[in-house]
Amino acid sequence: MKRSTKIGIVTSGGDCQGLNAAIRGVGKALFQHLDNAEIFGMYDGYRGLIEGDYKYMEERDFSGILTQGGTILGTSRQNYIAGKAILDEGGNDAMPAMMDTYNRLNLDCLVVMGGNGTQKSAKLLVDAGMNVITLPKTIDNDIFGTDTTFGFQSAVDIATNVIDYIHSTASSHRRIFVVELMGRDAGWLTLDAGVASGADVVLIPEIPYDIEKVAQAIDHRRKQGRYYTIVAVAEGAVSIHDAVLTEEARRRAKALMKHSTISYRIASELESLSGQEARVTVPGHYQRGGPPCPYDRVLATQFGTAAARLIIEKQYGYMIGVQGGRIVPVPLEDAASRTKFLPKDHPLIETARDIGIFLGD
Ligand code: F6P
Repeated sequence: MKRSTKIGIVTSGGDCQGLNAAIRGVGKALFQHLDNAEIFGMYDGYRGLIEGDYKYMEERDFSGILTQGGTILGTSRQNYIAGKAILDEGGNDAMPAMMDTYNRLNLDCLVVMGGNGTQKSAKLLVDAGMNVITLPKTIDNDIFGTDTTFGFQSAVDIATNVIDYIHSTASSHRRIFVVELMGRDAGWLTLDAGVASGADVVLIPEIPYDIEKVAQAIDHRRKQGRYYTIVAVAEGAVSIHDAVLTEEARRRAKALMKHSTISYRIASELESLSGQEARVTVPGHYQRGGPPCPYDRVLATQFGTAAARLIIEKQYGYMIGVQGGRIVPVPLEDAASRTKFLPKDHPLIETARDIGIFLGD
């Protein structure tokens, strides 16, 4: 009898919209094209693979989940030493345990869905000898090798909606509003949502901001009769002063910072410099919650089915990406090699400047 094709699915790192749509894409396509697929869903990311905690997934498990937020498998952030090891709860190298689960289940391939860190850790699984295909998911859109990730567009929709709503109250009270959006390292989400919602100032990690110049931009607006200002700030935005510090010095400065996040610091500095009342809104994990938008449903489904096709063709070691509108396999070693920052000459940055959005520099 023909041996069945055995697949493990892992969702790892921070969740986002579209994970279930992607899981569904993988499962439906495998059951559609193979009459002998066996799929094991690992619970809570790498933890399930390490501890052998998984669910045998039947065809019906892949129905009714397209629009569901989060991940039906659960996820976790596993401790990890960059480029070296995935660690278990006790801080030990988890590779032997993961390999044990992989071998015991006799898996042909693991499909790993995750962000930047997960692409890097999945590469360690490949180096250890596992067959792996990854899918790029994150609201941050900072994964190298793909024009976009699923989750991103849904988060842009939410962040845009938040700023849309803030406009009226900011205008009524003639206040400065600092809206802090997610994005530790990259400003894709903040720039997209900022342009979509007509924010007046957009501050992103890739362009260190000068707070004095931000205050001047606000003053200039007031002189033109525009009495309120919306500042969209990525959580990882840095001032020109902090940008020149070493990573260690920056960490120490952050620990000493009296404000809980960057947006509170910016609001308080702008209040002192401009004399105008400032308020902060932090939508936080709200940006990662709820159903995927239609774009992400389609993209995640395309990524999932493309992964299934590679599995059927026995081609492993790739991340599925989208480049110029085409779904393509990207060698995992490339995808895992670096972070996709927003280039300073990106056309959307030019567009933002063209319409008078101040970028802090
Ligand atoms: O990487 C996605 C992301 O949402 C970042 O934008 C944010 O900094 C981080 O995850 C938050 O992580 P956690 O879920 O661990 O709070």
